[in-house]
Order: sequence, then C-alpha cells, then structure tokens
Amino acid sequence: MNYDDEYKKSVEHPELFWQQQANNIHWFKKPSQILSTNKQGFYQWFSDGELNTSYLALDYHLEQGRGEQLALIYDSPVTNTQQSFTYHELHQQVAKFADVLQKQQVSKGDRVLIYMPMIPQAAIAMLACARLGAIHSVVFGGFAAHELAIRIDDAEPKVIVTASCGIEVDKILPYKPLVDEAINKATAKPQTCIVFQREMLSSSLQAGRDFCWQSLMESANPIAAVPVKATDPLYILYTSGTTGTPKGVVRDNGGHAVAMKYSMKTVYGMNTGDVFWAASDVGWVVGHSYIVYGPLIAGCTTIMYEGKPIKTPDAGAFWRVCQDYKVNVLFSAPTAFRAICKEDPNAALIEQYDLSALKRLYLAGERLDPATYTWLKEKTHKPVIDHWWQTETGWAIAGIPIGLEELPTKSGSAGVPIPGFQVEILDNKGQNMPRNEEGSVTLKLPLPPGCLTTIWRNPARFKAGYLSTYQGYYLTGDSGYIDDDGYLFIMGRTDDVINVAGHRLSTGEMEEIVSAHPDVAECAVFGIHDALKGQVPLALVITKNGIAIDKEALQLTLKAEVRSKIGAIASLKHVLIVERLPKTRSGKILRKVMRQMIDGEAYQVPSTIDDMGVIAELDKIFNKALNE
Ligand code: COA
Ligand code: AMP
Repeated sequence: MNYDDEYKKSVEHPELFWQQQANNIHWFKKPSQILSTNKQGFYQWFSDGELNTSYLALDYHLEQGRGEQLALIYDSPVTNTQQSFTYHELHQQVAKFADVLQKQQVSKGDRVLIYMPMIPQAAIAMLACARLGAIHSVVFGGFAAHELAIRIDDAEPKVIVTASCGIEVDKILPYKPLVDEAINKATAKPQTCIVFQREMLSSSLQAGRDFCWQSLMESANPIAAVPVKATDPLYILYTSGTTGTPKGVVRDNGGHAVAMKYSMKTVYGMNTGDVFWAASDVGWVVGHSYIVYGPLIAGCTTIMYEGKPIKTPDAGAFWRVCQDYKVNVLFSAPTAFRAICKEDPNAALIEQYDLSALKRLYLAGERLDPATYTWLKEKTHKPVIDHWWQTETGWAIAGIPIGLEELPTKSGSAGVPIPGFQVEILDNKGQNMPRNEEGSVTLKLPLPPGCLTTIWRNPARFKAGYLSTYQGYYLTGDSGYIDDDGYLFIMGRTDDVINVAGHRLSTGEMEEIVSAHPDVAECAVFGIHDALKGQVPLALVITKNGIAIDKEALQLTLKAEVRSKIGAIASLKHVLIVERLPKTRSGKILRKVMRQMIDGEAYQVPSTIDDMGVIAELDKIFNKALNE
C-alpha cells in the first residue's frame, strides 16, 4: 500500500486500521473493543485485550524458532567489552530477574525504579518488570540525586535497581552514593535496592535493604510472563515540563506493543533478523522504544552501546560499531553527528569502515540542521532521515514512512505525518493556519496507540497541559508549519523546554534553582544556540539591593548549584549579572526577544514593553559577554 492510501485509511477509519495492526502481535486475549474512553474521559486502545510485553519481546520469538538469533549486543568501548545474547539467553536472564523481583514482593502494578548505565542489565530489568506486569521507571544516569529523589517520591517504587557505577569516557562515576543520597532525601523509601556490581567498582551495601544483583540471580529460577490488560501501564518515564516538577509520562502495554511493531516496519523498514542500532540511552524515550522494546518486539537484533560518538576512542566509533555488527539502521541525535563532524570534517574515519550493511540513518531529538544533514548525506552516501517525536508520543509523529514508500527527504523538514497522527497547525484562536505559515503544532484526537495515556497520578496535569488549549487536540508544545507538499517543518518549542545535546531540560526548573539563592532577586533562564549541543542554557540574574556581592563567586555558585541539583548534563555555562530584565507592562519577561538578540536573529520588541531602554542596555552586555 502506498503512503497516501495508508495514511487516509488510518485517519478515516482508525478503529479498523489499528485493529488490523493489532492482529500482527500475539494476544493472550484478543481485543474486541478497539477504541474507547476511560472513566476520566481519555481515549484508550484495546481495553479488553490481554497480553504481556516481555512475552512479545522474548518468548514469542522462541516459539517462532528464533532462539539462537542474536537479540542484544552489548558493545562497550569504555570497558573494552563486547557481549551478545541470543533470544534464548536474553529470555533466561529476564525470566530469572523477574523471579528476583518477585521474591522482593514485586507484583503487577508495583513500581520499580531503574537507574543504570548502558549495560544489558538495564534492559533485562525493564523486561523483567514487564514480565510481572510491574511498572518500571527508568531514570537517566546523568541526573543528580535531587532529581532522582523527586522521581522516587512521585513513583513510590518498591524496589530500585542500579549498578555500582557508570563510565563517562574515562571517568568512573559511582552510582550507589547518588542512589543512597536520593533515598535519604525522598519521603517514599523503597524496600529494596538491587545493585549490579561492576568489576571496576564495588558498592557497599546496606544490610537488609541492599542486595547484589549477581548473588540474587544465582538462586533465581525463570518464571513465566503474567497476562496484563492492554491498558495497564508498562512504564512511567519522567520528562521535563515548564516547572521543576517533572511529568511522569505513562505508557500502556497494548497500544505501545502495537505501535512498536507497526513503527519498526513502517517508519524504519525493518524486518525480523535485521540489526537496529539506536545510539541513545535507556534513560530516554528513544532508548525505551528503540533500544529495548521496538527492535525486540520486531525480532531484530538491538545494540546497547556504552560509549560516546567521539573520544571512545575517536570519531570513528559509530562507524566501527556499524561495521562490526553489520548494522542496517543507525538512529541517533544530530548533536552526536555534529560532534563527529567537528572531529572528522573530511570523514577520513568513515572511509576506514565497511558500511555496506547500513541502509539508512535516522535522526531525532532536536531539529536536524541542514548543515549536518548535508554533511552526513554526502559523507556516508546513505539516505539521512529526520523524524520528529517526543517522550509523550513514544514513536514518530512525522518522518519518511520507508516501509510504505520511499518518499524523498527535504532538508530542514521532519517529513510527513506518520499514519495515525493527524497533524494540524493552529493559530492562537484554534483556526487552521494556511500552508507555509508557522503556528502551534497540534495533533487531532484520538492519538494513535502508543502515545501517553496520562500523567502518573496527575490526570489533571495531562488535561491542563496537553488537552485544554484546543478542544479535541493534543498540544505538542512545538511550533512549525506544513509546506505545499505536506512536509512538516518543526521550528522550536513554544514553552520553556530546551534541548541540550539531545537532553530535554526545563529552563523553568533552572530558574527555580537559581532564584532560590539568597542573593538573587530575580532571574531568567533561556536556551541559546550552541554549535555542538544545539542549545545551552543562559541565566540572567538580578541580585538583591544592598548586598555586597562577589559577582564571580556568585556565578560559580549558581553554575555549581544547577549542576548538583539537576546533573552535569544541564550544562549551565553562562551566568550574566544584569541590572534589569526586559518585561511587558504586565510583568512577562521577554525571554524570546533576549534569545533572538543573543543568537543574532531578527527580533521584534512588543509595544507592551515597559521600558525600551533595557534592550539597548542588554545589547551591550550580550555583545561584551559573547566577545569574551
Ligand atoms: N551519566 C553521568 N554523567 C553524564 C551522563 C550519564 N549518562 N551523560 C552525560 N554526563 C555528563 C558528562 O560526563 C559531562 O560531564 P562534565 O561536565 O563533568 O564533563 C556532562 O554530563 C555533559 O555531557 P554531554 O551533554 O554528553 O556533553 P559532552 O560535551 O560531554 O558530549 C556529545 C557532547 C554531543 C558528544 C554528547 O552529548 C552526546 O553524545 N550526545 C548524544 C546524546 C544522545 O544520544 N541523546 C539521545 C537522544 S536520541
Ligand atoms: P523528547 O521528549 O526529549 O524526545 O523531546 C521532544 C522535543 O524535542 C520535541 O517536542 C521537539 O521540540 C524536539 N524534537 C525532537 N525531535 C525533533 C526533530 N526531529 N525536529 C525538531 N525538533 C525535534
């Protein structure tokens, strides 16, 4: 079927369309109710179906005779390790770790928080939770103890699974002290903490609460997958919003499994046995969907890479992995390729590797800038596909549906809407914008299967944040336009979320941390352009009157405070002390204008500004700071 026909069918007859897609996965009880609404009035998919996601990712393949096929390859240049698991071996590990969790009284609906580096045990723990119907919440290893504590208090996990350490290039980062600190800070204390002890560092264990992964596995016996309802949550994944309280995006089992299976074929053109590599981290949605669940549900071989695009050991690392494992599709963030391009602009390292198995490259996480798009296309001689999605949707809203039709790519565009997603560009009043004109990017309800079903324990936030701005639409928080050919161009966020090296962060949260300093009267944090990371945060700070301030010391303290509360990934490198901030007469800080001033873009100061003099004042400060 071609793209137009399939797309039309998906939006005109969504129930029939998704019922047919649901037939492509194995159900313990096939759903008869395809689309309905729950008690809170939110759409739900396949409500009377029963299945198990871990069964689909593992047991199903054993039954299909794929037990000896490679399921997961672990490649770790930072520890010089390469290890692979067949479907049979991965199944054994997962079924045994499910027993370990069950012996810690974890059962259906309980939460398990996973705070781990990129090692196979992270995927094993996720799949083991799914096997029991327990809800996992993976927290990215780059987040600090404070962030971890916030997530512990929101998810209230019975068990935390962690590792003794992570490795960042050549630095060993002990994880266990961070977990201990987070548990101390949190009100909701987990009963148990299971620690995978790594060779390079062994953690001390608190008697009665902490257990060693390896020891518990010695006495574990494989257990079977428990049937769960399609609407039961598979996981909670926290993502940044506009405030300091992260949002727990909830994903269900049934819709997610159907969407994963459909997307592997339609979005990525993958077949059983193909090798799929998402060079991301299990802590992000890309890791959930396309390191763990998508490739395994589709019967592919997935790769877990514990390394960086550069420095482990060089900018040829990605191409080495593609060659060694005959990777068919590589997916990463533009920032990773900007880092590679910076170190190896003439692609001398690409030439050294055999990339004949590689069919296509996919990029997401931030806009694929035309320079990186062109460089990658020219140097790899492969199709380069930008596709747009978010933690909330769990899979691509727009892209090139290669499994249906090889539509051309367009530089700067994230492609066309993927079947199931009804993308509309609306103005402030909810009217459709004409083609080529920028507005708020929205998705007409119902969202297809696989998208968030609510915000954990906060349906009101789901409603207020996503569903209330335009009746009958989901608000993506991005702005953009659709061109004459139906291609979508995503131009940036409309809220206070920024994207730093592919990491989604809240400037609102950084403002809360900076403002909490006793010398700070007021502040504004916003994202400015960065050639490598896409964006980095910049803080403008007004200090309190009548206090003698050592400006340099304050700048250092504020940077350190954000780093210690959020984590090193926050990368707050610029703090400027200013006298005033530009505001409208109603008191709204003109962050966008300031960002445009710094990024050298054209800007328009609104007529509602209360004092035009601030703009000239800031212009001087910005010029001086940027020239330093
Ligand atoms: N655990 C602990 N610390 C981490 C971490 C993790 N998982 N990930 C990053 N950090 C730390 C880094 O060590 C660094 O610390 P430092 O300031 O002490 O040096 C800091 O956070 C910033 O790291 P990062 O944002 O990765 O910047 P970088 O300059 O070290 O590297 C890139 C730049 C582009 C190479 C790197 O960001 C990268 O590989 N990005 C791709 C991200 C990605 O794949 N995202 C997935 C979206 S699909
Ligand atoms: P996350 O939830 O971390 O995946 O971040 C989602 C946000 O990242 C989106 O709402 C966009 O703002 C941005 N984003 C992700 N992919 C793209 C893309 N391909 N083009 C433009 N922006 C993107």
